Amino acid sequence: MSTRYDLSGRHAVVTGGAGGLGRGIARALIEAGASVSLWDQNANSLAQAVAELGRRASQRQLDIRDVNAVEAAADAAISDHGRIDILVNNAGVLGEVRPIWETTPENFQRVLQVNLFGTYLVTRAAVGRMLRQEPRRSPDGHLLRGHVVNIASIQGKEGMAMAAAYSASKAGLIALTKSVAKETAKEGIIVTAVTPAAAETAMAQEISAERRADILSRIPMARFVEVAEVARLVLWLSSDDCSFSTGGIFDLSGGRATY
Ligand SMILES: NC(=O)c1ccc[n+]([C@@H]2O[C@H](COP(=O)([O-])OP(=O)(O)OC[C@H]3O[C@@H](n4cnc5c(N)ncnc54)[C@H](O)[C@@H]3O)[C@@H](O)[C@H]2O)c1
Repeated sequence: MSTRYDLSGRHAVVTGGAGGLGRGIARALIEAGASVSLWDQNANSLAQAVAELGRRASQRQLDIRDVNAVEAAADAAISDHGRIDILVNNAGVLGEVRPIWETTPENFQRVLQVNLFGTYLVTRAAVGRMLRQEPRRSPDGHLLRGHVVNIASIQGKEGMAMAAAYSASKAGLIALTKSVAKETAKEGIIVTAVTPAAAETAMAQEISAERRADILSRIPMARFVEVAEVARLVLWLSSDDCSFSTGGIFDLSGGRATY
């Protein structure tokens, strides 16, 4: 990586950290010196991820929809590492890829529950604890307690046919980002979101070849975003250099986004 960040001594929580983007983000945070707790529901992927990422990665198997599990994991992060400096809300599911009249209410509920309600629970737990942490100073001398980065999606800005639940959940996540940013603006907690276009992860394997071609045709750069490209932006958003961009929604769409 050409730009270097020094996150040594920082502790990060990455939800969905065993998956494609989450693991890449965790790797970048670790390479910058941070320790990272991976919170994920998939035990096998978690074990693989921790083996791959080395001794500054730790794992916590949990479902982010479970308030007690989330609170216990946040307590453990504080007792093991002293603080939560960085939270990356990355866990998410795509759900059914169908027109709304063919979808099930159970699917809609599950997608909203994971992508929005689960993220709410994790944010509530982590931000509540960040507020009690001793602040640091930004390079310009301003108060900083922590950074929260939410992984939304271009679909949350544009809407996307055959993904109403997913798009609605990501639009909700964008509004949650801006709302929490306003609540914590004077407390030194910087809250942002990124809106990637498609990346080649397990999630991308869930769609048909025809839909992949349709998605690619919407991206002016005519390619998927690399996991490392997402990780580099998240790294900056997690660093003390990101000190005035709270509430910002950062594009990662190869030219697809129009706002
Ligand atoms: N891949 C893409 O094209 C793309 C594009 C834009 C945004 N995103 C977003 O990026 C994030 C990561 O997606 P990915 O592509 O790496 O997918 P992925 O399927 O590889 O990883 C998602 C991870 O989240 C975990 N997870 C799911 N539900 C959970 C729950 N209830 N509790 C705890 N963990 C849970 C899974 O076990 C998995 O490890 C998601 O929020 C997704 O919406 C992905």
